Amino acid sequence: MGKKLTVKICTGTLCYVMGGADLQLLDEQLSPELLSRVDIMGSPCLDCCNHDDSAQAPFVKVGERVVSGATISKVIDAIKDELSKQ
Ligand code: FES
Repeated sequence: MGKKLTVKICTGTLCYVMGGADLQLLDEQLSPELLSRVDIMGSPCLDCCNHDDSAQAPFVKVGERVVSGATISKVIDAIKDELSKQ
């Protein structure tokens, strides 16, 4: 089995108030199989919010991919997609 995929959930203020707080529940929504293949962590500002387009928050990094306007289902899709490339 390959190395685990890193999932960083931004806990910076902007992302947190824009919905990032809900994303903290991600691990409860993942199937045991997916959960065993990822490392989920909170992260200080990912530096993705420094654009005028702050409506794109919250941000999550799945491997090297940045998911904007992140919801749990969007992040799960990104995780599946990244894992399928490994
Ligand atoms: S606060 Fe989340 S990317 Fe900056």
